[in-house]
Amino acid sequence: MNPVQSHVSDLLVIGGGLAGERVAVEAARAGYAVTIVSQTPPRRSHSAAAQGGMQASLGNSAMGRGDHPDLHFADTVRGSDWGCDQPVARLFAEHAPEAVREMAHWGVPWTRVEDPGDRQGLIAGRNFGGTQKWRACYTADGTGHAMLYTLAGRIQKLGIPVHDRMEALSLIHDGHRCFGAVCRCLRTGDIIPYTASATVVAAGGCGMLYKTTTNGVASLGTGMALALETGVVPLGNMEAVQFHPTALAPSGILITEGARGDGGVLRDRHLHRFMPDYEPEAKDLAFRDVTARAMALHMKRGNGVESADGPHLWLDLRHLGKDHVETHLKEITAICRNFAGIDPLQDLIPVRPAQHYQMGGIRTDIRGAAHGMEGLFALGEAACWDLHGFNRLGGNSLAETVVAGMLMGRHLVEYLKHCHAPFTCPIAHDAVNRQKGRIALLTGGTLKENVFDLRSQMAAVLSEKVGIFRNADDLRDAITVLNDLHERSEQVGTAPGSPRVSPEISAALQLPGMIKLALCIAWGALLRTESRGSHFREDYPHRNDRDWLKRTLAFWPVGGNAPLLRHEPVAVTELPPEGRTDNKRTCAPNRRRPRGTGCSDN
Ligand code: FUM
Repeated sequence: MNPVQSHVSDLLVIGGGLAGERVAVEAARAGYAVTIVSQTPPRRSHSAAAQGGMQASLGNSAMGRGDHPDLHFADTVRGSDWGCDQPVARLFAEHAPEAVREMAHWGVPWTRVEDPGDRQGLIAGRNFGGTQKWRACYTADGTGHAMLYTLAGRIQKLGIPVHDRMEALSLIHDGHRCFGAVCRCLRTGDIIPYTASATVVAAGGCGMLYKTTTNGVASLGTGMALALETGVVPLGNMEAVQFHPTALAPSGILITEGARGDGGVLRDRHLHRFMPDYEPEAKDLAFRDVTARAMALHMKRGNGVESADGPHLWLDLRHLGKDHVETHLKEITAICRNFAGIDPLQDLIPVRPAQHYQMGGIRTDIRGAAHGMEGLFALGEAACWDLHGFNRLGGNSLAETVVAGMLMGRHLVEYLKHCHAPFTCPIAHDAVNRQKGRIALLTGGTLKENVFDLRSQMAAVLSEKVGIFRNADDLRDAITVLNDLHERSEQVGTAPGSPRVSPEISAALQLPGMIKLALCIAWGALLRTESRGSHFREDYPHRNDRDWLKRTLAFWPVGGNAPLLRHEPVAVTELPPEGRTDNKRTCAPNRRRPRGTGCSDN
């Protein structure tokens, strides 16, 4: 091995996507030494895959007139099924317009209002599910891509070092304070301690826990697992998993909600437009959890299109016309052509729901400071400050990356001014040695289990038993299987003589953490005996505000073999819980709605 290098900075950011980059910009502008470590080159972070837009109440488009942060706040709370912290939703909605304009100033080529009139040329907003106004600001259907490239440019301009192909293996901490992270270079296999006065986890989601996801392959839940592994930092609401209605079948690549916002419709095997049967008002653009459930149920009832990879439904964009599709939906047009060999102008698009987003994550306060550990912060999909509750509105995650990045960056600058992190050499040394010991064990040739077998078993059980529809029996079965996989994950090893750098070693290092996350999801879902947003219990089909206006906190005791779960109240400061009206349309009980799909009215 090469001699141990080490890196010291004021701020270490784990994750080179939008959230990590935005927070890094704020600290670097204030003169602090910032280092970003990222598994992938930043421009290939999963943020690039975000398509449809970022929500901000600019009110420029004709259908956005009269928009206001109050409405954005209310939509976010309703969307969350009253599961979010309302002060966070308020702060977020108030600052989203500033963040979108800042991104314009830095160079994001937002799509502009085209209608003749006084607003022509202003940033446009498109329609997304569950919003009272059209407010998803967008760059065709490559919004994340445009934002990420713009921010990557800022990072370069500010000279912020980005160490890519670097995976974080553990946090450096003493059980009270975080001093940085131990990372492994994916090019050389070197183990490198990165020490810092403040450490930010912005490592994205954990879609790879599931069999089919819209997420990229680096969405392994690394950041969440790092925090859980400390034993003292809890994860919030891990059972709150979002399934996007329209993932391309069978690959799972995202087909933006913007396609339905722009007028696309869902059809079944009879080419019947079925969503109005389930949601007469909201139709194809109901809340995501409601739409995904209706689609899953419609397929269960035999209305899906049979294929070698299981049933799917159709998304129909043919009536939108060439000009619109090739301008505003050009990314998904390319995806359909390149990955499915079809042309959305002439062909129906095969779609079905797939895992898309983790509403839960590292529990932080409203400033992004992690619970239970000084010097540790988190934001973006890795975090649960808790903006999204049990159903995130489409477009609120892109907005969250830059709003939270801006606001938390400002708090971090204040924090760093007053922070005197003590010298940490022995703690870092121990943390490095622990990781070297793990690698020596799994590459020693004595261990028996194959990492990819265990990982696919984990993904299969989570997808089958902890998916869109849940019940106690399935959840208990899932926990039994996951417990066994957790035990066996200690026996994962690579073949004798394997190279010291390989995807297998990385997968083996990540697997125990992934299974722990899966167990947090399954246990959280089992204990939450109600239905709220994306968490739908067939055996408890109603929202229960009396007992469950609460957030789940999952800890993993050091050396333990199961999560420890607690619950804390959700902050309801402005909008008391009510029937979950779907804004543009009512979602009140309706005779024609099949049982078990609609909004959880109380
Ligand atoms: O459908 C989409 O474009 C996804 C957006 C989001 O998840 O925010």
